[in-house]
Amino acid sequence: MRVTIDGVPREMRTVWFDDGIVKLIDQRYLPFEVRVYEAKTYEDVAVAIEDMVVRGSPAIGATAAYGMAQAAHQGLDLKAAADRLRKTRPTGHDLFFAIDSMMKAASGGDDLVEVAERYAQDNIEQCRRIGEHGAKLIRNGTRILTHCNAGALAAVDYGTATAPMRVAHENGRRFFVYVDETRPRLQGARLTAWELLEAGIEHAIITDGAAGHFLGHGEIDLVLVGADRIAVNGDTANKIGTYAKAVVAKENGVPFYVAAPTSTIDVDLASGAKIPIEERSPQEVLHLDGQVIAPKESPARNPAFDVTPAKYITGIITERGILKPSQLRSSGKAAPKKKARTKSR
Ligand code: MRU
Repeated sequence: MRVTIDGVPREMRTVWFDDGIVKLIDQRYLPFEVRVYEAKTYEDVAVAIEDMVVRGSPAIGATAAYGMAQAAHQGLDLKAAADRLRKTRPTGHDLFFAIDSMMKAASGGDDLVEVAERYAQDNIEQCRRIGEHGAKLIRNGTRILTHCNAGALAAVDYGTATAPMRVAHENGRRFFVYVDETRPRLQGARLTAWELLEAGIEHAIITDGAAGHFLGHGEIDLVLVGADRIAVNGDTANKIGTYAKAVVAKENGVPFYVAAPTSTIDVDLASGAKIPIEERSPQEVLHLDGQVIAPKESPARNPAFDVTPAKYITGIITERGILKPSQLRSSGKAAPKKKARTKSR
């Protein structure tokens, strides 16, 4: 992705491995500062995932892959590294997919640094293909709603839900993106808006509560979001608030698409009912920018994700094409190569 530092644009990835160190864009400081976090051990990598230095399911997966490679490089116990990393965040599936892939490669005697590099490179290519498939949904004048950050920062590069926007923009299409601010951590306002600005894509930030208004008034033509875990029936966990957007989109006849690499599909889960939902600290709800915003005595609840039932999802944009939720059942990672009909307004 293009990142401007001190007025100078340069290309950066979300995560990379440099001389034995896992390096990450520290997302806690964006959009105000581009800082690089250096993880010298797999414990540092685990803390980076827990503290959301890095977030977004595919980015977490690649970071964990590098953490495993680092542990191997340092001659440490890989099972201990895997156990620690698995405990960081429960909902996104790419974390578990990446760790399982690394453990499998280790048992086959592969060089884990090479495997992690390939894992990260594959993710970039998958996102690019998601972009090419999904860009067909975006025409001149399309008004898109997105939620949270499913951008380059949520993957190794390019992004999932923003990949179709990047490709459509590269192809010269003019369109507009409504960006939900995404309380409580403001990934939309802080991260997606920053990425769209860097990419030169027209957009406006809206409060989470405003999305229904714009959907109800015919001001949105397409909803495009990412995913943290997709069950084989198509039920999809994504950032809290996604479910409500999907219901209102269907009520108003607006197509609702999920974009994700097949590493986000959990082939062991028949439906979304068993997707573990991370509950984060109430402090994230009760504070804004370090300030208390509620009565001191009031408790809060803070589920980080919700599950959107497949019946609200028009299609799932994967690197293999745009699939109907019902097409995932047969295969998951071995999802059918043939493309489903796509629909756009
Ligand atoms: O809590 P986060 O920021 O890790 O959650 C990420 C999301 O839910 C994203 O919106 C996304 O769609 C999944 S990652 C591409």
